[in-house]
Amino acid sequence: MELLLDTANVEEIKKYCDLYEIKGVTTNPTILSSAKGGFFELFWSIKKIIQDRQLHIQVTAVNWEDMIKEAEAITASLGKDVYIKVPVDEQGIKAMKELKHMQYHVTATAVYTIQQAMLASTVGADYVAPYFNRMNNLNIDSKKVIGDIVTLFDKDNSPTKVLAASFKNTQQVLDSLTVGAHAVTVPGAILSQMVSNSLIDGAVEAFRADWVRTYGNKMIHEL
Ligand code: E4P
Repeated sequence: MELLLDTANVEEIKKYCDLYEIKGVTTNPTILSSAKGGFFELFWSIKKIIQDRQLHIQVTAVNWEDMIKEAEAITASLGKDVYIKVPVDEQGIKAMKELKHMQYHVTATAVYTIQQAMLASTVGADYVAPYFNRMNNLNIDSKKVIGDIVTLFDKDNSPTKVLAASFKNTQQVLDSLTVGAHAVTVPGAILSQMVSNSLIDGAVEAFRADWVRTYGNKMIHEL
């Protein structure tokens, strides 16, 4: 199971890479619109923090030739290990096909349907990113779509991994993983929500109170 961070916020990336086992960071133009700093400056800062972890950066062009040029500019500045995120439409499929011939890492994004995932897999995408919450907003059964993609890839022995994305709550993340998504990319706040509730807080406080009643304020290593 792989856990990635869906943010370009440097402080958030620092915090969650330190606390959790984070496989990488994903971004898109919308995420960048709320981040500070120039494009390359921002990604240099992110790269410094995440080091060898994966960095997924989305192209913005609408035709495949320009998508390739963007990918070349990204990797010239940030290294060939960057995953180039490409939306799955016809131009995107052609771009992904070329990028894989050129030995790039590729993440197929903006996936709402099993047929997009299938086509991305045929051109060798390393990951496909189905958009859980956005599918829900369209009354598409996100869990079923993600489960079907996983089943199709399994049947085909496809090396393409499912990186579920677009989450607004913890249940969506868990729903993706229980139907077999290999990876999820999650905003930091949702990760924190997974381990913050009054039951957990109550248990931690009660254990602490019993400890203090028995041994005082010293910790185990101070006894
Ligand atoms: C990540 O790769 C996706 O671009 C992102 O999760 C989309 O999230 P949104 O639906 O909240 O914009």
